[in-house]
Amino acid sequence: MRKIVKGKRLDFTIDDVNGIYGGHVGVLWEMLMGEEIHVGGEKETEILAERAGINQNTVILDICSALGGPARHLARKYGCKVKGLDATEKMVNEAIKRTGKEQLSHLVTYKLGNALDIPFKANTFDLVWGQDAWCYITDKERLIKEASRVLKNTGTIAFTDWIQTGTMTENEWEDLNSFMAFPFMETLDGYEEILIDTGFKIVEKEDLSDDFTEHCHIYQDRLRNELKDQIIGNYGEGLFKAADEGLDMWVRAAGEGKVGRGRLIGKKI
Ligand SMILES: C[S@@+](CC[C@H](N)C(=O)[O-])C[C@H]1O[C@@H](n2cnc3c(N)ncnc32)[C@H](O)[C@@H]1O
Repeated sequence: MRKIVKGKRLDFTIDDVNGIYGGHVGVLWEMLMGEEIHVGGEKETEILAERAGINQNTVILDICSALGGPARHLARKYGCKVKGLDATEKMVNEAIKRTGKEQLSHLVTYKLGNALDIPFKANTFDLVWGQDAWCYITDKERLIKEASRVLKNTGTIAFTDWIQTGTMTENEWEDLNSFMAFPFMETLDGYEEILIDTGFKIVEKEDLSDDFTEHCHIYQDRLRNELKDQIIGNYGEGLFKAADEGLDMWVRAAGEGKVGRGRLIGKKI
């Protein structure tokens, strides 16, 4: 998908996000990564939860909760309350359905809404949580401000995200972001700066890019060797080809140290 470059961001909107996660591409992401749609799956959720210090009393907001895989994981493991926020109706409806099936609806609920206008009152949550999704957000400063607003004092923000880690040509930058429909990726230092400017103390800042590169290879193998026939059969050759070419470009960029993934944890002070 090609979009006009505005300043240093591509002109993607919520409608584009809805198109992706309400359609076949969203299904493809689940086929590749599982219902926890982030790099590293359940293991990564466990690590982030442990570092964020979750317990039974932690009230959590998962921003960009998608199918609710991580929200249910946390509720199942800790018995904590989780609210999922997502902008795509199909994702929210599917998350509600799966949560009901697992009999976790007393702990995990969902709301349709935009992360840039979080539909909750100030001082509501102990923890704002996010996994590999804030790369879709057009205004990272506003997102973190909104997260801070809904957090209680001394609350925690804990998230992972896909980040830009190296320099690249304008064309490469446009191709990599366009394929994913990201308006732009933040850098790890950029996120640190936004968090500090918004009034967070940094508790953890970790570059996970080596692991990201390994996982890009894992997903590429899975696409080519396990999922190819199923994708072509269900959605046609075109979707498989587009996914394969795009993933290949990402595998190369990750190997060249241009893109990666990071984990940040901050405390509201
Ligand atoms: C990669 S998935 C998130 C995966 C999820 N965090 C997980 O670990 O399972 C990206 C999700 O972000 C949502 N999203 C993107 N932009 C959003 C926004 N501005 N506000 C709320 N949700 C958004 C999409 O609808 C989609 O469900």
